[in-house]
Amino acid sequence: MSSGPPASKKPAITLDGLSGSGKSTLARRLALELQWAYLDSGAWYRALTWAVLQNQADPADSEAILSVLSQITLSCRSDGNVLVDGALIDQQLRTPEIDQAVSMVADHSDVREALNQRMRLLRDAPDILGVVADGRDAGAIIFPDAALKIFVEVDVEVRAERRYQQQLKAKLSVDYPSTLAALRVRDQRDRARGAAAPQIHPGDRVLNNESVTVEEAIRRLLSWASELSAV
Ligand code: C5P
Repeated sequence: MSSGPPASKKPAITLDGLSGSGKSTLARRLALELQWAYLDSGAWYRALTWAVLQNQADPADSEAILSVLSQITLSCRSDGNVLVDGALIDQQLRTPEIDQAVSMVADHSDVREALNQRMRLLRDAPDILGVVADGRDAGAIIFPDAALKIFVEVDVEVRAERRYQQQLKAKLSVDYPSTLAALRVRDQRDRARGAAAPQIHPGDRVLNNESVTVEEAIRRLLSWASELSAV
């Protein structure tokens, strides 16, 4: 029996990488260029974490998290924004509190599987041509049959500077050394997740996103995508 996806599945392109590598910016733009749906898997983890904290559940307790997940409806728009029970909460997802708790939520393998199942349903939406998904394990676990799998690489100090600037813009009270330290901690946790850890797998295309502009990176991604028969 074949273990591949049913032939009716829409095509997927995945971009994985560590926090702050710029993969979300690139994935959102790529989806827009291709007119595919964008799935920001990190935003789904953040939205679940937001609901966990709202319900005063313990991010270290996987049963409590699964119970919260069973009581909410998670969905997303084709621009990647996630809705909890139909409400857009994107402005509340990038705070230091969520940054800290989301790694704990994402550590539970049963929570990951439950969330992955919900995210995979996006491909069944009748009105989409395909899905561009980004995350840590989008290519290895969420959509293992993706037509194109990209790994986005950027040095940790460059990622920390970018995250720090984003937080300053959002008027959060932060400093660069704390942002760098927090990023290193998240990297360590992400890397400890076995098969779900962000890593380059055989067959991945690697994009160094350190000294290229978004436009240059998008041109590269579109040229890789144009090699696919589905595009
Ligand atoms: O990408 P972003 O930083 O928004 O992701 C938030 C958190 O969600 C990450 O720190 C990571 O722990 C978790 N995550 C994950 N697997 C994914 C996407 C995100 O574990 N596919």
